[in-house]
Amino acid sequence: MYKSIIKGIGHYVPERVVTNADLEKLMDTSDAWIIERTGIRERRYFDHTKDTTANMASRAAIMAMERAGVESKDIDFIVFATITPDYMFPGSGVLMQRELGMLGIGALDIRNACSGFVYGLSIADQYIKSGMYKNILVIGSEIQSSGLEHNDEGRNVAVIFGDGAGAAVVQRAENTDRGILSTHLHADGTFAEELYVKDPGSSRADRYGEAMQGPGTKPYMNGNLVFKHAVVRFSEVIQEALEANQMDKEQIKLLVPHQANLRISQFIEQKMKLREGVVYNNIQKFGNTTAASIPIALSEAWEKGQVKENDIICLAAFGSGFTWASALIRW
Ligand code: UT7
Repeated sequence: MYKSIIKGIGHYVPERVVTNADLEKLMDTSDAWIIERTGIRERRYFDHTKDTTANMASRAAIMAMERAGVESKDIDFIVFATITPDYMFPGSGVLMQRELGMLGIGALDIRNACSGFVYGLSIADQYIKSGMYKNILVIGSEIQSSGLEHNDEGRNVAVIFGDGAGAAVVQRAENTDRGILSTHLHADGTFAEELYVKDPGSSRADRYGEAMQGPGTKPYMNGNLVFKHAVVRFSEVIQEALEANQMDKEQIKLLVPHQANLRISQFIEQKMKLREGVVYNNIQKFGNTTAASIPIALSEAWEKGQVKENDIICLAAFGSGFTWASALIRW
């Protein structure tokens, strides 16, 4: 039976640092409020003259391929997770494919928001285990900043999100107990409208008409409700991954949660009674980058030497949909 190994991981964040003090100038908020409620101190915003969802992904992918010791020609499939694609269609996967000169291979775009990277990893794992592909690029890339409402009305959403990209090369391996041990995917559409952007929705009679000037184009989030569901689902899906592999939480070397809100991560740490230092957080520097947050955090943790061969790494995500997911990996 084939196994899927994350052979290389990379990330890219735009240069422009936007601090809480910068946001104070645009809306009625404060550094103290943002830090207390979210833990975020700064985030990155793209430069529209040079950064796109696809080209940020390319930069992250190049780093991941270098670290994996593979070249563009070795990649045989792309799974691209984003809710902020360059165009309405086609998806950003084909744009990145073109940039990296991988013409001809399949490129699949998925839009599972904050859970997108873990969903993508699960897809890659199945294709590799089935023997269909050998090297798959799994991407999470987002430009949230251009869709935020930088005013008092949109402040609860605007202070949270940031831009960035992460990428993983998932590779076929044989005769090893390393690799992705299991993935667990969930969704509950009951809450679809609790965290969403409505327009330009195809159900509109004229989707590019008046609605485009209305509030439906801006992200809506029922923050309190999202928070309450997040803390429950994160713990559940981590526990599910451990049980599926007959493992104990003490065996987790590093838990990389989707960087939704530092308070959510701290809540999970306390609720699950995890050892200090097991939960990786970098939301302080990058905000919530939706599908990109897990691969950015994983790449950073790897650079710091916190992810080593044979370590048990747990990835967990929760977000719009609601969707939630986990992956347990022996690195
Ligand atoms: O990645 C996708 C998943 N998303 C999440 O996981 C986000 C989950 N939710 C959250 O992180 C939190 O709900 C927020 C950070 C969005 C909000 O924090 P909260 O502690 O739930 O605040 P709240 O919405 O209950 O609002 C408390 C107060 C309100 O004022 P009043 O009504 O008490 O006077 C808000 O108007 O804080 C006010 N407020 C702000 N004040 C300053 C809301 N946003 C801001 C702001 N600056 N940016």
